[in-house]
Amino acid sequence: MALNYQSGFGNEFATEALPGALPVGRNSPQRAPYGLYAEQISGTAFTAPRHSNRRSWLYRIRPAALHGKFSALLHPRFHNAFGDGPVTPEQLRWSPLPMPSAPTDWLDGLYTMAGNGSAEAGTGAGIHVYAANKDMDGRFFYDADGELLIVPQQGRLRIATEMGVLEVEPQEIALIPRGIRFSVSLPDGAARGYVCENFGAMLKLPDLGPIGSNGLANPRDFLAPVAAYEDRTGQFELVAKFQGHLWRADLGHSPLDVVAWHGNYTPCKYDLRRFNTIGSISYDHPDPSIFLVLHSPSDSEGVSNLDFVIFPPRWLVAQDTFRPPWFHRNIASEFMGLVHGAYDAKAEGFVPGGASLHNSMSGHGPDAATFEKASKADLTKPDVIRDTMAFMFETRHVLRPSAQALDAAHRQADYQQCWQGLARHFTPEKR
Ligand SMILES: [Fe+2]
Repeated sequence: MALNYQSGFGNEFATEALPGALPVGRNSPQRAPYGLYAEQISGTAFTAPRHSNRRSWLYRIRPAALHGKFSALLHPRFHNAFGDGPVTPEQLRWSPLPMPSAPTDWLDGLYTMAGNGSAEAGTGAGIHVYAANKDMDGRFFYDADGELLIVPQQGRLRIATEMGVLEVEPQEIALIPRGIRFSVSLPDGAARGYVCENFGAMLKLPDLGPIGSNGLANPRDFLAPVAAYEDRTGQFELVAKFQGHLWRADLGHSPLDVVAWHGNYTPCKYDLRRFNTIGSISYDHPDPSIFLVLHSPSDSEGVSNLDFVIFPPRWLVAQDTFRPPWFHRNIASEFMGLVHGAYDAKAEGFVPGGASLHNSMSGHGPDAATFEKASKADLTKPDVIRDTMAFMFETRHVLRPSAQALDAAHRQADYQQCWQGLARHFTPEKR
């Protein structure tokens, strides 16, 4: 069944699954319609400026306070222990996380790759991947530590949240705000992808400057769910991620019992294929910030805590230009993933579901095969890059790879070999 959505990024939405379930003219009437409880969830400080203030009012069968006692839940593969020892400046690359052999739901299938900062500090990001083959049947999760940016690579995810249902497929993303409870099922039976856990300020659309009032990710292409509720009791489990650790509590009812809600603190989805890609029509190509979808600002103007950048299909027409990404070193640290197709800076080795990490000031760029090909390409014809979707989680602070990621069998220990074939072309006689 096709799901309904509401269009817009961070809009003031209003939605009800039963007619008249939303109170009119006030948020917390003495008795809410249908015997519902009114509950506010705030994702920003009460006193945040209006343009950045995010909160929603939920009208639900039972308040969120109603659950059993929390006890620690062990999940050694999913954590925020990014380590405090030396960090290798080496360029790192991984093959896809193998699919589990035992039944594993989305939550159990999470695997921490790298991160920086912490929930406690309110800055930084955790970077995880997942591989799963089972629905989160009767399990509900919320992350108090950060907002979740979910990037499916294989298989659809049906994300049933307190505020309604989102279905996302590869080349789409989902954003789940801090604290929102949800359960993931897998319509295709198996799923793999990436998750960025943003400990900092909520992700927002970038300002466009001279680009103007349209372009990059357009606000109306973001889709929020409509209210949909579950009225069911049973033996369920609520899992919370709180200060880097998981906790579980028994729950006698589904927490997805919100009959109506209004506000601007909401999950949403976005189809990356809708991105309006902008590039050079003369020479060179712009910095990759031109591919920015969403960013989490930091306290320093112009410096993001986290940037989410994509490398979508596009035309390359620049003249007298090396058309693939240049060789570079950045102050920022870059975790890359590939959702679909091939990436134009690497001839092989970087495959869908794989990942790479280039930390601050670690040199990287096209591999030897790509350099040789692009240096000799016929620039009288445009190139078109089709059927691809790579992305980057770029952070202000160094990304510390987790011990399990460094030791993983699917880490490509020979990654640096991709540059070893770069030939010396220098000659002191000008040609
Ligand atoms: Fe880079």
